[in-house]
Amino acid sequence: MVKSCSIGVLDSGLGGVSVLKSLIKLMPNEDIIYVGDTKNIPYGGRTKEEIRKLALRIVEFLILNKCKMIVVACNTASIAALDYLQENCNIPIVGIIDAGVEIVLEGGYKEVSILCTPFTAKSGDHKKKIHKKDKKIKVNVVGCELLCPMIEKGWETIKNRDDILDEYMSHVSKDSEALLLACTHYPFIKDEIGKKFSGEIIVPSDECVREVYRTLRENNLLNEKKKKGTVEFYVTGEVDSFKEKAEKFLKQKNINVYKIDL
Ligand code: DGL
Repeated sequence: MVKSCSIGVLDSGLGGVSVLKSLIKLMPNEDIIYVGDTKNIPYGGRTKEEIRKLALRIVEFLILNKCKMIVVACNTASIAALDYLQENCNIPIVGIIDAGVEIVLEGGYKEVSILCTPFTAKSGDHKKKIHKKDKKIKVNVVGCELLCPMIEKGWETIKNRDDILDEYMSHVSKDSEALLLACTHYPFIKDEIGKKFSGEIIVPSDECVREVYRTLRENNLLNEKKKKGTVEFYVTGEVDSFKEKAEKFLKQKNINVYKIDL
């Protein structure tokens, strides 16, 4: 693998674009290939075996397209498949769970809440990892079945979005000092969530990208070119709706989105 190869980013859909935004900000000269598996979203209601199979197909596509490392920019896929992908591929692959856990541990909080997909909630992964280092932190996990599909469909187009968000937020413990957004789709509605939570809102994307940077540096794979990098998007579902939402979130026009069948 050479330094000029791309970084691959994968998610079940749009969510990973929140990590991509950090990636572009912190490493602007890297070339990036993004895959959103919009045909198979949401991953959050699937089994571990299904998610592993879907994620492996994307990783194989990214490796075929000469990626030097891969970011699993999806909490659900990181929990279900990161170990499996690392065992089956010979390029560095990082997930996003440790980034969120790290921020919680460093924040010195007594009590935190975690907003995530049903799969992530059921796995208890964040809680286990936090308690491995500090058993005293109270962790309250709220699985939100509908949020990811609503964001993917177009948040503003859903009439009762506020009621649904209210219902999920009513399960967030009032004593939580911080709320970890443990689904990469949720930064798309960070402002709406912020109106319903008075503590700190944790978005782990920048921390995840710092891990990407460290991994590339350790493997002597940082791109040394001075020019701005390129980003190519691939989706397994509909191109236009993805393009519109990704452009809005990235505040960027004319991104290149292509359809792929995996
Ligand atoms: N962005 C994904 C995550 O971080 C959403 C998973 C889904 O498709 O349900 O978990």
